[in-house]
Amino acid sequence: MKQYKRTLVTSALPYANGPVHIGHLAGVYVPADIYARYLRLKGQDVLFVGGSDEHGVPVTIRARKEGCTPQDVVDRYHNIIKKSFEEFGISFDVYSRTTSAIHHKFAADFFRKLYDEGKFVESESEQYYDEQAGEFLTDRNIRGECPRCHAPEAYGDQCEKCGSTLSPDELINPYNAVTGNPLVKKMTKHWYLPLDQYQQWLEQWILNEHKEWRPNVYGQCKSWLDGGLKPRAVTRDLNWGIPVPVEGAEGKVLYVWFDAPIGYISNTKELCDANPDKYGQWQQWWQDEDCRMIHFIGKDNIVFHCIVFPSMLKAHGDYILPDNVPSNEFLNLEGDKISTSRNWAVWLNEYLEDMPGKQDVLRYVLTANAPETKDNDFTWKDYQARNNNELVAVYGNFVNRALQLTKKYYNGLVPQCGELTDYDKATIDEFKDVKQKVEALLDQFKFRDAQKEAMNLARIGNKYIADEEPWKLIKTDPERVKTIINISLQLTANLAIAFEPFLPFSSKKLREMLCMDSFRWEELGSMGLLPAGKQLGEPELLFQKIEDDVIQSQLDKLEATKKANEAETWHAQPVKENIQFDDFQKLDIRVGKVLECERVPKMKKLLRFLIDDGLQKRTIVSGIAQWYEPEQLLGKEVLFIANLAPREFKNGLVSEGMILSAEDWDGTISVTTVEHEVKPGSTVC
Ligand code: 2FM
Ligand code: ZN
Repeated sequence: MKQYKRTLVTSALPYANGPVHIGHLAGVYVPADIYARYLRLKGQDVLFVGGSDEHGVPVTIRARKEGCTPQDVVDRYHNIIKKSFEEFGISFDVYSRTTSAIHHKFAADFFRKLYDEGKFVESESEQYYDEQAGEFLTDRNIRGECPRCHAPEAYGDQCEKCGSTLSPDELINPYNAVTGNPLVKKMTKHWYLPLDQYQQWLEQWILNEHKEWRPNVYGQCKSWLDGGLKPRAVTRDLNWGIPVPVEGAEGKVLYVWFDAPIGYISNTKELCDANPDKYGQWQQWWQDEDCRMIHFIGKDNIVFHCIVFPSMLKAHGDYILPDNVPSNEFLNLEGDKISTSRNWAVWLNEYLEDMPGKQDVLRYVLTANAPETKDNDFTWKDYQARNNNELVAVYGNFVNRALQLTKKYYNGLVPQCGELTDYDKATIDEFKDVKQKVEALLDQFKFRDAQKEAMNLARIGNKYIADEEPWKLIKTDPERVKTIINISLQLTANLAIAFEPFLPFSSKKLREMLCMDSFRWEELGSMGLLPAGKQLGEPELLFQKIEDDVIQSQLDKLEATKKANEAETWHAQPVKENIQFDDFQKLDIRVGKVLECERVPKMKKLLRFLIDDGLQKRTIVSGIAQWYEPEQLLGKEVLFIANLAPREFKNGLVSEGMILSAEDWDGTISVTTVEHEVKPGSTVC
């Protein structure tokens, strides 16, 4: 295998049109961070690049919705996202943004070089245009009737009602989603990257030379390549983005997927230019064969990072290509797809408000459940179980026992290790073994299994101390206890190293408790990390148990979101066929006063009413017991149908009419009444 001098780790630039959620963290940023931390711990030269993707249509849609400028939107979310990443310990060397002046210039120059060298194809085509607003529309901004299910508000790229993928041309009566204006077709010119010309080269590079890529990544690339690549437009008619640096291209910007990946390069440049002594020249990271580049992304980004961006880099000619693109699948939340627009997510900023100090718990759970090979589900119950049964009961418990016993028996001084038993030796050997395993897994981007192995170390430690029971031996064999505690402490120090890439906050806390200065991956497996006689710090709990009520309040929050979404997507039923006035007049609707109201024994759904209808008293039975306590309706004036033929219920009760109620979107019932008091028997017309 080729030895590289440096590793450049990139993680997808999130759109700055909303905060980041657990899906982002699980899919991209936690694995990228684990990898970057691991390499740094090994003493390698690493650069971890991130930033916000601030162009594109979603930003403009958000701005219009909120009545502000796109710049306002990205300023707000860039800061929120950046803060969330910092708080979760995502250890970027640089986190910049694609609205920076450096990026604008860099991306425009990149385009211009390809343009000057004739690497693009120019082509005119008809696109939808809003004549009144004077603008071309992108697919997402076009709405119209769905040709499949006839929902009235399908998008130009998709119908959310029936899920069909659409193209704007298929919509019936398309209109501008924002202005509501009807659309016409108009010719417009764009520049295309002729991916078809890179097909052969990509086939060789990916399908033959990168068979080691994850099966999901390799498989997706293969299916794109098998389908035959077509030229892709790299410009758009939009007023938000990087202006196309070509004469006659006024009103056009670079397509967001053209400029965003260039953001990896321009962000590197920004960092290196400001700190050349520390990070060197940006070209050493991007244009030197001794540097290895790894892109961490989610599965919806595969085509852009494996096919489009590499073709751009190849067209340019001066750049290295990614060595691997470890893309994850998606993380669902409580069985449903995470969705920004439906607010179905655990937002990182909100998580930290609700669960202060629990960054590592989330990092742990998201890695334990990482969607590495298939989509996975995050549930709050699993979160609680992993915290309580693994972090607290295994890792935290072992560390706490080792440190508390050291404090109790030796005033916090590391005791001397004596002669080793066979069991001691076997335990130590197992520890050494795990180091190789974790390393091999991390080298293959198998973070989930790697963390499992690290947790295995804690299991070994926990078992060791539980089997040896030093608290029983302290009276009878104090010398032996010194050895047991010494070994336990060495194992604890090993855990601080092994978990550092995964749980950096806990590792730091543990290191502080152990007053551990030396801290390198290479030392993992060593039994000499804490010399005898060393004074340790005050022990504290690494993890806290999470109680049911905390989990319940998160579940309640999601339930409230679900309800709000249902209310929002509810549509009134279509109006029934017309009837004649005479038919309406046949209905005798009146006001009646409720004289009695009670539950019907053995019939859970029914309430029996005695109504004063102005002429007499009549019994009406109504299936609304689930929604009212009988006393709530006593004395109320309700609307009822007076001339409905009597209906007999199973238990012999006869209903002489029907009380009118409204059924809300969620099935809740509300009885109809009059706006001010009228005489019982008044007719409703
Ligand atoms: O899917 C996304 O969220 C994109 N903003 C990712 C861009 S990655 C890179 F190309 F910048
Ligand atoms: Zn549809």
